[in-house]
Amino acid sequence: MDKIIIFDTTLRDGEQAPGASLNQREKLEIAEALASLGVDIIEAGFPISSKGDFEAVKSVAASIKGPIVCGLARAIKKDIDVAYQAIKFSKRPRIHVFLATSRIHMQYKLKKAEDEILRLAVWSTKYAKKYCPDIEFSPEDASRSDRGFLFRVIEAVIDAGATTVNIPDTVGYAEPEEFGSLIRAIRDNVASINKAVISVHCHNDLGLAVANSLEAIKKGAEQVECTINGIGERAGNASLEEIIMALDTRKDVFGSLTTDIRKNQIYKTSRLVSKLTGFVIAPNKAIVGSNAFRHEAGIHQDGVLKKRSTYEIIKPQDVGFYGAGLVLGKHSGRHAFSERLKTLGFHLRKQQLDEAFVRFKQVVDKKKNVFDSDLIAIVEDGLRTVKPLWKLISFEIISGTQITPKAMVKLQKKKEILIGSSTGDGPVDACFKAIDKISNIKAKLQDYRLEAVTSGKDALGGVNLKLSTKAKTVLGRGSSTDIIEASIRAYLDALNKIESQ
Ligand code: KIV
Ligand code: ZN
Repeated sequence: MDKIIIFDTTLRDGEQAPGASLNQREKLEIAEALASLGVDIIEAGFPISSKGDFEAVKSVAASIKGPIVCGLARAIKKDIDVAYQAIKFSKRPRIHVFLATSRIHMQYKLKKAEDEILRLAVWSTKYAKKYCPDIEFSPEDASRSDRGFLFRVIEAVIDAGATTVNIPDTVGYAEPEEFGSLIRAIRDNVASINKAVISVHCHNDLGLAVANSLEAIKKGAEQVECTINGIGERAGNASLEEIIMALDTRKDVFGSLTTDIRKNQIYKTSRLVSKLTGFVIAPNKAIVGSNAFRHEAGIHQDGVLKKRSTYEIIKPQDVGFYGAGLVLGKHSGRHAFSERLKTLGFHLRKQQLDEAFVRFKQVVDKKKNVFDSDLIAIVEDGLRTVKPLWKLISFEIISGTQITPKAMVKLQKKKEILIGSSTGDGPVDACFKAIDKISNIKAKLQDYRLEAVTSGKDALGGVNLKLSTKAKTVLGRGSSTDIIEASIRAYLDALNKIESQ
């Protein structure tokens, strides 16, 4: 059986998606989830790009066991030096050097001729190789490069020590047949190609990233670069979950190709990335969207009840999605609670479990039917990436059609109890203003989204918001059967992040 190497770049190209910035702790949390998902390589960041990214790559390299940890570098001495300083703590470090080879990039961006690019490609590979044996080289914009020149560059970097050559469709311009034929042509025309792994890296500008990656696999690519939920520059990268499930579902097409991905962790990892980046998953997103396994039309529902495979090509449980199935209620004990969480892929430490159980009991007091999605929200709410400085004790609001909304909020900061009150445009605004008076933090609300976690009048409300100060932008999340409380929890989550970093 041939194994396809899964190179995850959620923490690098994924994080380049506008608005998706992750701090060090969040990157580490995602890296842990990726390692447990079974990816082979984690591209943890672009260390030269900022001090924060350098530290994040360093902490991922130092703590993640199993996958190779990779850092990106331009073909520049300083980039390569800094990338190595960040990844050297990994037991399995990789430096990924990139340099554009297309005419348009060479002429307008780099202002360099072919000979100079070839020289730089060889020099940078050799220089990186002095630091570590595992070197990946990417001729950026490969799909728009002159094929003859591209083959020469690939041959030269392999001779210089590159162990993986990655073929990026940087601007998502290629279409499947063309991209597949490029991979085949590289196999046929680069003499030393068997000494390196061929990788592909596809962007989704035309919605073809997954199709291009799959076609490349058919034509001999051995590694695919992808991201959770397909996040990435502009329209994103090829989505990991779609590639994995296509390979798995269409064994008739892809034969015996395998990966080490634990499919039942896909849904959970997808949710984590969505929560920490603040990128909501479209309901119709393949594999992980909330509608991906939902059947609305009567004929479809009837068919699925008679035989599941009439309208379902993937079992939702295979990707760790358990639907809304009614699971726990008022009389459920701690054991049942913890067992259910394990089934959903959450392995909590004792204190986390205790706290989640308290929250669960508060929810079942108000909400008779607790669904899996409620449980996930309850747990995710508790799994804070920072130790909370501000905690909600209580709040009261007065609101109505003919009156100005007023709020009183009582918070705890360490041992101190603080009370603030304010009016506002609405009850949520009044609460946020009351909190601002207590905390004295000058933060701007950039984004606020409220969604029902499950259906029904007693559904949990989940709030995602974005707060910015002069120095940073953070995301906050909270859930409750009461949407004002969910909003306060999300606001405090964000304030706690602002205070902690
Ligand atoms: O899209 C691209 O070309 C890249 C390279 C750095 C591999 O992200
Ligand atoms: Zn890219």
